[in-house]
This record gives sequence, structure tokens and C-alpha cells, in this order.
Amino acid sequence: MSLTPLLEQYHRIKQKYRDTILLFQVGDFYEMFYDDAKIVARALGLTLTARSHGKDNKVPLAGIPVKALDTYLERLLACGFRVAICEQQEAPGLSKIIKRNVIEVITPGTAMRPTLLEDKKNHYLLAIMPGQAFFGIAFADISTGEFYLAQIAKGNLKEEIGKIDPKEIIIPSSSGGVDYGQVTTLLDDYYFSYDYAYEKLKTHFGVANLAGFGIEDYQLGIQAAGAVLYYLEETQKHTLPHIRKISLYRPTEYLFIDRMTRKNLELTERLNPQASPDFKKGTLLSILDHTKTPIGARLLRKWLLSPLLEVTKIKERQQAVCEIAKNSFLLKDLSDTLTQIGDMERIASRVACERANARDLIALKNFLKQAPAIKNLLVGSASTLLKDFYHRIGDFTPITERIEKTLVEEPPLALTEGGLIRTGYSCELDKTRNLCHNAKKYIAELQEKERRLTGIPNLKVNYNSVFGYYIEVTKSYLSLVPKHYLRKQTVASAERYITPELKEYEAKVLNAEERIKSLEYELFLQLRSEIGQVVPQILEFSNIIAQLDCLLSLAIVAQANNYCKPEIDEGTEIIIKDSRHPVVEQLTTEPFIANDVYLNQSDHQILLITGPNMAGKSTYLRQVALIVIMAQMGSFVPAQKAKIGVVDKIFTRIGASDDLARGVSTFLAEMNETANILNNATSRSLIILDEIGRGTATYDGLALAWSVVEYLHQNPSFQPKTLFATHYHELTDIAHFLPRVKNYNFCAKESQDGIIFLRKLVSGKSDKSYGIAVAKLAGLPKEVIERAKILLPKFEKGEEISIKSITTDKDTDTKDQLSPIEEELLKIDVNKLTPIEALNLLHQLCQKAKNRA
Ligand SMILES: Nc1ncnc2c1ncn2[C@@H]1O[C@H](COP(=O)(O)OP(=O)(O)OP(=O)(O)O)[C@@H](O)[C@H]1O
Ligand SMILES: [Mg+2]
Repeated sequence: MSLTPLLEQYHRIKQKYRDTILLFQVGDFYEMFYDDAKIVARALGLTLTARSHGKDNKVPLAGIPVKALDTYLERLLACGFRVAICEQQEAPGLSKIIKRNVIEVITPGTAMRPTLLEDKKNHYLLAIMPGQAFFGIAFADISTGEFYLAQIAKGNLKEEIGKIDPKEIIIPSSSGGVDYGQVTTLLDDYYFSYDYAYEKLKTHFGVANLAGFGIEDYQLGIQAAGAVLYYLEETQKHTLPHIRKISLYRPTEYLFIDRMTRKNLELTERLNPQASPDFKKGTLLSILDHTKTPIGARLLRKWLLSPLLEVTKIKERQQAVCEIAKNSFLLKDLSDTLTQIGDMERIASRVACERANARDLIALKNFLKQAPAIKNLLVGSASTLLKDFYHRIGDFTPITERIEKTLVEEPPLALTEGGLIRTGYSCELDKTRNLCHNAKKYIAELQEKERRLTGIPNLKVNYNSVFGYYIEVTKSYLSLVPKHYLRKQTVASAERYITPELKEYEAKVLNAEERIKSLEYELFLQLRSEIGQVVPQILEFSNIIAQLDCLLSLAIVAQANNYCKPEIDEGTEIIIKDSRHPVVEQLTTEPFIANDVYLNQSDHQILLITGPNMAGKSTYLRQVALIVIMAQMGSFVPAQKAKIGVVDKIFTRIGASDDLARGVSTFLAEMNETANILNNATSRSLIILDEIGRGTATYDGLALAWSVVEYLHQNPSFQPKTLFATHYHELTDIAHFLPRVKNYNFCAKESQDGIIFLRKLVSGKSDKSYGIAVAKLAGLPKEVIERAKILLPKFEKGEEISIKSITTDKDTDTKDQLSPIEEELLKIDVNKLTPIEALNLLHQLCQKAKNRA
């Protein structure tokens, strides 16, 4: 079967892009053929048709309009496809079959188009190079130019992947079959080989060796990095000059927050995203993020997920936050100025990859023009960071003036259709534009002239795309048409002519227009490549803006929410006066009750926290962890006063989280997490345990909880600070035996209308549980509540239980249906009453009985 030339070309190209969906431009459409068409039609709900290519050859076909590419790309990537875009490289008609080339391969981890990127989040591509005990990883965001490498212990790999949250992972083909949970692409082992990778990095950065980056010793990391570079270049079809350096990523420099903790504490996402349509609302990030720029928003997210360990660095941020928060003018002016700045980082990256259009450059110019204003605001700053920014902000006037002189203020999107360059910038362009203008004017005047000469009053000069300019004469005046008019076309009521003069001027117009377009494009490319030279400086400025934006954001929250500056030191105490939960205090309608925190290594290592359901235990536990995180990211904290000894890791075990997807039961998941905590905590760690042991039989649970507390207390090698909320009242007895365990409780009051939560943490264990009172609040049927009240003392005393049948007839179960007076009697502990109290009580009961009668 012979193929048409078009299909032949298609097959030739498709062969090189087997694992992608090939979008093949045919005029105004990108067409997909064969299986690509079938798969995509099914996934996106497109119409699947078939087109005949030659005899007996029907090929399945689906198409998307070229204009709608961005929308479809978004959907294709969301389905996990890799997409190759094959464009027509010349105007139709020049050769028998139009030249076509793949100009870009887009995969989830390599997207650069603004429409495919989230503003406030990095889009990382991550490569993993497996080793024995350690794995090499490298990750880059092509849209921003960031590039990191690390070597991670095998056991921590999942944690790190969770934190980096890449859009796509590449691994050597020979290590396939591992599920990393993200879109995973297999790459030939060759690209992960050390020699290839080392050479690749050396050539890319133009260096003799990698010592300057401090990564020379990280062999596995280098292997992963080489693969990242290869894959990015291969998909972009372009070198990546904006990736200027590779940095060592050292997770150990940051407060370690594991995956479950990140989830449980709802740092950047809600535990239950369905709870709110805005998935960020109710997260710590949503409270802290008042950034004005996408670059700042992305950095703040990183600060939140990687708080610092080094006291001096934390203090540097604090100082700057303090300076901004205290100076309301600075705060306001910085806010206003930063609002004028957009995603400089991504535009600079597009400039470097030669993907920026004229609108990008205009935007970039407007952002860079803010530099002097920002520098001005930082004059005389006291804090180390702000001072440093002041000195580092460069002078961008040459580049902004250059852009301003070259480009019009509102250029079109297309780069090849003209209309980009200002008058006065290029003599040649201006001359050509004049020529074009004059020729057009001449043609416009021609109509009048010809009417005069021929005496045809309705003669018209018109233009169409088939044969250009022509003269049209209606049938009634044909007799007046002069001899030198050449007939070109006959239409219903008229004849169309051309003249040599008309064609001469037409050629002038068309030539000039072509020349203008290509000149403008050339001038634009020149400008863009010149700006490409200063991309490093722009990225440096962008980084300063991002940091400034984060510090401003933290200053804004500190001010608005009345936070205090925590005192940070190397000590081991955590003392917080009147701490609040940063998120709950914003969302709750009732006033938030502040509570103190006191944790240390000597006598308050483990706090056992009891209290009724709904009393505020979990809220308190989380707020302590959140405050530590905020403090170590350099933020102020919701409290009156705080002193925080730097914490190295935070672990949480909160609530029941089924990991159904992994096929792990609630209880097993809980024990897994607990094991992880016990195995990895250090004396500097903070552990939050919220009701562990709950998912199993009471005594099993209690026994486990007890032995966990013992382990945390008695282990000679580590004594992490721990907050432990529990409903096992028996557990509180452990404080008698272990000196560093202390009991605290959230008290509640029972009143006529039910239970009142005081939300106040007090020393000592709670006296009783109020589960039934809380259940009543939840609106359980009265019968159930009453019955539970009767059962409770029986269970507590280990008495035998008889089954009650549920009927609406109140008399059926008189045996178990107690009168209010009997209920009161049950509550009395005769041994604890003095004779006077007993007499009083008897009097009250008699009174109540009389009233009822
Ligand atoms: N200090 C506080 N001030 C005001 N409201 C609070 C405070 N602490 C908690 N709350 C409110 O009380 C609700 C219940 O708190 P929380 O979930 O912490 O109770 P709990 O003691 O853990 O209950 P359970 O034992 O059922 O897990 C929270 O949703 C919050 O709205
Ligand atoms: Mg709770």
C-alpha cells in the first residue's frame, strides 16, 4: 500500500516520537492520526473521524485548532501525555510538500508556556539515580532556572519526593517498575552514566570541573543531574542558558517535616480538600501568604516547607520582618511597589530560551523599572538582609531604555506580523514604512485619477488575496473602459481589471510589507538576545524581590494578627505565653482562648493532655507545632511571648488516617507512623501524638500508648519533647512514675443546658470524660443518649449488660429507664459525703420528688 507524501512525512517524524502524542500541523489545525487520534479523542472527548489518504487507505483522525493549542495542551498534560508539537516551517505552495519539524516536546515536568504553569508553585522535573544505600536526585524548574542536586538515604527518598512535589520523574530504564506516585518517564541508562553526565554538566556550565559548585563528590547526584539536563534540552529543542548554576540541596539544613506532618498540620493543603472549594483556605500558607508577586509566593511556600535550623539565619529574617512591620510607610510603599512586579523569573527564563514575545519584554521592562524605587525604599535600612538587598540591586536603566526605545508600548502577540518596533528606532525600517505608506496612498488616489480620466463615476480600486489590487467597473460602463486595462476576472455585475501602473505600485506595497515584517522580526530578535545577556542579573534581582516579598508578607501578617517576635536560641526549652492557633483563630466565630506552652528537657518533656471531646486538645497540639514552624521560618508567632529552642524535626501522629490506597488499615497505618517517629526522633525533636492506640481494643491501645510514653521517657539516647493527647484516663497515672511526664487537661463545665467548654489548659488530669455530653450536642436521639448514660457506670464497674429493645413505648423497659432522682442517686459517692452534706442532699432530693409529684 503506498502512502501519500503527507502521511509518509508523518510516519518519518512520528518514528522519532513514538512515546508522545504527535500534533501535526496541517493549516489551521493540529492533526493526530492513527492511535494518537483514538487515544486523545477518547481522553478529551474529541470527534474521531477518518480521512482517505490515497486509495483504500482510511486513516483515523482527530484535530484541534491551532489557535486553541494552549487549552488542549493543558488537558493533554493533565491526562499525563507527552506531547510533540510539529509545525509547518514554510508558507504553503513553496514546495510540493511543506517542510515540518518538531519544535518542542512538552511533558508535565518540562512545560514552559505560562498557561501550563501554576503561578505560586514550582514545576520541578526530578531525576532519580538509584544506588545501594543512597539515591542520587536532581531537580530543575525550567520555567525559573532553578537546578539542585542531592544524595538521599534510600529510606528518606519518598519523603523528599513528597516535599519537592515534582510534576514528572525520570529514571533509568533499567530501574523501571518502581512506582513513585508521579508521572514517571524511563530514559535510556546511557544518559544516567557518570561519564556522560559529568561531561554534560561541564559543557553546559562551561567549566573545567564541578568543584566550584561543591558537588564534585556527589557521584550519584551528578548522574541524575546529567539526565535532567539532557531531558530538558531534548524536549525544549534549545540550550538552557538561564540554568546558570547547580546547587547542592541539603535537606539536613532545614527543619525536617515529614509527609504525614505536612499533611496533618495542613501546611499547604487541606487534609480534606473537598471541605472547601478553595483548597488553600484554612492552610497555614493561606494565613501567611500576603505576597504581591508570584516569585514571592513560590519562595514563601519553600520557606514554609523548609524552615531553618541556624539561629543566626532565622534572626536575620526576623530582623528584617521587624523592620518592615514597625515602619508603616515602608510596609505600605513596599506593598505598592511590589504589586507592580510580576513573574520576572519566568519571563527571564523565556528570554534565555528564546521563547519570550514582545509583550513579555514590555512587561519585563515595567518590572525592572521598579528597581530604583525599591532601592530607594531600602536606603538606610538597619537589618542585615535589607541592607544586603540595597547593595545588590543593580542598575537596569540601560536595558529598560533599550526596550523602551525599541518596542511600541502595546505590541501584538505575533512576532512575524510587524507592528512591534517604534518609529525612529531604525532608519531603514522607517524608510520602508514610508515607501509602503506612499505606495498605498498612491493606490488610494488612483481611484480618483482613473475616474477622472475614464469618466466612469463608480470605478473602484479594490484588493483581494487572490490577485491583489484590481480596478472594478460595473457592466453599464464597460464601454468606457480604456484599452490599456487588462481584464482579469468577470463577476456577476462587473468586470475586474489590472493595469501595469497598478501592479507596479502593488509590488512596491507588498515588497515593503514583507521587508517591514522581516526587519521588525530581526530587530526584535536582536533586542531579545541582547536582553538574554543580562538574564543572570535579572534573575538575581528577581531573587531579591522574592525574598523581600516574603519578608513583607510575614510583616503584614505579624501586624494584622498581632503576633510577637519569638526569641530563638540553641536551648532546648519551648516556652510560649498565650499561644493561639494561627488558622483556627482566624476562622472561628467564637473568641479564641489562648494557652501557655511549657516544654523542656528537665521536668516537662512529655505532656499528657486529657479533657472531654471537643475541648481543644488537638487544636492545642497543632498550634504548638505550627508556632515552632513559623518561628523557624523567621515569622512572628500568634502569642504574647515565645522562647523557642530550635527544633530539628517535627513528627505528628494525628487522628485516624486510612491509607486505603496502600491497602493499610487504620490501625496499621497508625502503628507504622508511630514506629517511624520512634525510630527517627532525636532529643531536639518535637513529637505530637494525638490519641495513639485508638484504632484497636481499649486495653491493647492503652498498653501501646503506655509503652510508647515509657520509651520516649526512658530511652537513654534521646528524649524528644512530646505532646500527647489521650482519652485513656488510666494513662495519666504514668506521671506518678516518670518525673518528666506532666499531666494537663482542658476543663469543661456541665451546666443545665449541657456542657460548656472553657478551652483553658490547666495542670493535672481531667476528672471525668464528657463523651456522652458531647454526643448530645451532636444531636443523637434522646433515647440513645439516655441509654448510654445508664450503660456507662455498668461498663465502668464491669457489670453484666442486658439488651434493651427499642420501642416508642416508654414503659417497656422500666428496669433500665431510671427516673431523674435515681440518676442523681447514682452520682452520689456516699463515702465522700459529710453528714451535713448528706442531710442537705436528702433534703434536695425530697424537694425534687415533691415537685415531680
Ligand atoms: N483555644 C480555643 N479557643 C476557641 N476555640 C477552640 C479552642 N480550641 C479549640 N477550639 C474549637 O473547638 C473545636 C474542637 O477542638 P479540638 O478538635 O481541638 O477538640 P479535641 O479536644 O481534640 O476533641 P476530640 O477529643 O474529640 O478529638 C475546634 O474545632 C475549635 O473550633
Ligand atoms: Mg482531638
